[in-house]
Amino acid sequence: MFVNDLDAYWMPFTANRAFKKSPRLLAYAKNMHYFSAEGRAIIDGSAGLWCANAGHCRASIVEAIGAQAGELLFPPPFQFGHPKAFALASRIAALAPGDLDHVFFTNSGSEAVDTALKIAIAYHNLRGEGTRQRLVGRERGFHGSGFGGTAVGGIGANRKLFGCLLAGVDHLPSTYDRAKQAFTKGEPEWGAHRADELERIVGVHDASTIAAVIVEPMAGSTGVLPPPDGYLKRLRSICDKYDILLIFDEVTCGFGRLGHAFAAERYGVLPDMITFAKGVTSGTVPLGGVIVRQPIYETFMDGPEHAVELLHGYTCSGHPLACAAGLAALDLYEEEDLFARALQLEPFFADAVHGLKGLPNVLDIRNAGLSAAIDLRAKPGAPGKRGYDAMDRAFHNFDLLLRSSGDTLILTPPLIVSEAQIDEIVEKTARAITAVA
Ligand SMILES: Cc1ncc(COP(=O)(O)O)c(C=O)c1O
Repeated sequence: MFVNDLDAYWMPFTANRAFKKSPRLLAYAKNMHYFSAEGRAIIDGSAGLWCANAGHCRASIVEAIGAQAGELLFPPPFQFGHPKAFALASRIAALAPGDLDHVFFTNSGSEAVDTALKIAIAYHNLRGEGTRQRLVGRERGFHGSGFGGTAVGGIGANRKLFGCLLAGVDHLPSTYDRAKQAFTKGEPEWGAHRADELERIVGVHDASTIAAVIVEPMAGSTGVLPPPDGYLKRLRSICDKYDILLIFDEVTCGFGRLGHAFAAERYGVLPDMITFAKGVTSGTVPLGGVIVRQPIYETFMDGPEHAVELLHGYTCSGHPLACAAGLAALDLYEEEDLFARALQLEPFFADAVHGLKGLPNVLDIRNAGLSAAIDLRAKPGAPGKRGYDAMDRAFHNFDLLLRSSGDTLILTPPLIVSEAQIDEIVEKTARAITAVA
């Protein structure tokens, strides 16, 4: 018998039991708001999950998805193609800096990360440097939920239940030190020297065993850690010195969050690969991918022409619905100049969020682009409880959707947010923080 209760669905990255006692159900959405089934408007302080950069249910994206659904829904992506996958790859390559000219599509950020890590190892293999197999991530990094991404990720709680993950993975230290950086607006001055830890890792393992370093330019999921001034440039030059590939995981940073198409542009650093997802379709249809520099792509384009060059891919890589949504989202970003808008709103957003300093239990506030995080003091003996309660109260009592990660609250509104809506989001966040004091 069919029973429509909440039990069957095992929700991802969710406190299932607490949710099912007091569900936060979202029925529909428009622009800056979600709505409950009863029609209660909930302002979106998180672009869903760093996704809906153009806002919700924008007409042109909805129409593009509908039109595509009536035209073509499943062309096999292996050995066959459809026009929109090529069109979208070209558009993304044109947005990416330097010779980041080739795009491999996946369905998620996790798949994008695992793809980039595999490409890095395979690339070195093809160049006759098959000993380069080690991967270097960073403490507090988040790179999705695949085995590769979990292995290079640096959030201990996400790793500890899952055994040894990948062999041969090391981690840079986090760039964060509250004593040196608390309440900095934007990128902190302190911390560039933490890139030099890569030299130490090279010393331990030897460069000839290291394939790639992967970092989020700004660590997002762990709670918005903007890179210290000069840190990414230093990492780039050490990678260059040892022929180590540098991968920027831009799943949260990409598509305008930091005021540019990619954070690589904001920080003036050209990585060898960029992973993306989320904002590429404004979160409307699952899509991710890896943008690869020309010489890496060329390395694979060898051997007999009838042979598959990279034995890797996904049944729904570059799905037509996702590509149609992606093209429409990129059109909107361009027409409404949303990346520049994020940059322009950054000082107003930063001032508003830093205005929360002094509220009970606020230990630090950080921001970059249209993203910010507020660290709250943990309740004694109950880490994560204050953050959870603040998120829950924000939703049920104050009509605000925000994200909590442990005891950190994260604000990443859609890029269409107005100044008045920023004030509203911050004021409701203040009420939630006060409610859990
Ligand atoms: C930096 C980063 N990489 C990868 C991922 C994984 O993306 P997905 O959940 O689409 O697999 C995320 C998700 O939040 C992310 O923030």
